Amino acid sequence: MSGNRSLHAASRAKNDEFYTELSDIEKELRHYKKHFQGKTVYCNCDDPRVSNFFHYFSYNFEHLGLKKLIATCYKSQHADLFSQNDSEQAVWLEYTGDKDGNGTPSLDEIAVMPLQGDGDFRSAECIELLKQADIVVTNPPFSLFREYVAQLVEYGKQFLIIGNQNAITYKEIFPLIKENKLWLGNHGGDMKFKVPSHYEPRPTRYWQDESGQKWRSMGNTFWFTNLDHDKRHEELILYKRYSPEEYPYYDNYDAIEVSKVAEIPCDFDGVMGVPITFLDKHNPEQFEIVGCSYSYGEPIGYFHGGTDYSVTIGGIHKYKRLFIKRKK
Ligand SMILES: C[S@@+](CC[C@H](N)C(=O)[O-])C[C@H]1O[C@@H](n2cnc3c(N)ncnc32)[C@H](O)[C@@H]1O
Repeated sequence: MSGNRSLHAASRAKNDEFYTELSDIEKELRHYKKHFQGKTVYCNCDDPRVSNFFHYFSYNFEHLGLKKLIATCYKSQHADLFSQNDSEQAVWLEYTGDKDGNGTPSLDEIAVMPLQGDGDFRSAECIELLKQADIVVTNPPFSLFREYVAQLVEYGKQFLIIGNQNAITYKEIFPLIKENKLWLGNHGGDMKFKVPSHYEPRPTRYWQDESGQKWRSMGNTFWFTNLDHDKRHEELILYKRYSPEEYPYYDNYDAIEVSKVAEIPCDFDGVMGVPITFLDKHNPEQFEIVGCSYSYGEPIGYFHGGTDYSVTIGGIHKYKRLFIKRKK
């Protein structure tokens, strides 16, 4: 790697090091118990010494009725960037449940095997482990989110992963949402994460607790999944009626502007532009997603409305919109 590219990759990797809280995992996983019976779960971006995903699935192995838990632990090529900075070798782990009857996973029940490479989720040996898995659950490196999701789809895996709301309009992600192959989970918004000690202080959304542990919080963090859940079938209760005065048409696209999700008119049959926060309320039996503004949505369901591909009213650009249509 050239010096510049290596530096860039190093700073990107630094921003990928943050660890999900057990409470956030528990809160979301409560909604999916029925999917896990008899399944092999793979956490493929998870150092078991710091990953609460490994902790959650090993401690809830019997409760969920799992068949097997696999985790791989990435060893960054940048020595100072390894999760806890103290491992020489990338490893993979396998847990098949409590054998000694003490109800908790003990060290001698967890098989630890070396990996030949660095444990990159895209490496051949990690892909072999992926093939064994039914469901992949983790918080992957956000800088590689597009590739990460593409790989899960390529191998036909079920998944429940954490990502940023911005990913909704990525050109690699939006088509999956539109085709009902990916949707949001139950909880989202602000989440806080522990970050390693080498983390550089930031002016916002960063703090250190009394013990010296560094933290970051992120807004707009959501679970992305293709596992069905009840919230996805709840109907959005609508109370507003359409009027041309309140819901103007865009200058450059045949749809009306609805600037608040709560104000989607209950009686309009055409296409409506809504904020992307709509996705958190989307019920595929109630609405169909037909497209999105913004260049990332290209080319599926995409319209070309100007140099920055946004919709306008009276020449004024609107923020990113999803285009939806009521189902009869
Ligand atoms: C956002 S952190 C989340 C860690 C852990 N999954 C959790 O939620 O606590 C993403 C993790 O992915 C690891 N990682 C970065 N690049 C990776 C790659 N190419 N393959 C596998 N893991 C990677 C990082 O070391 C980092 O620990």
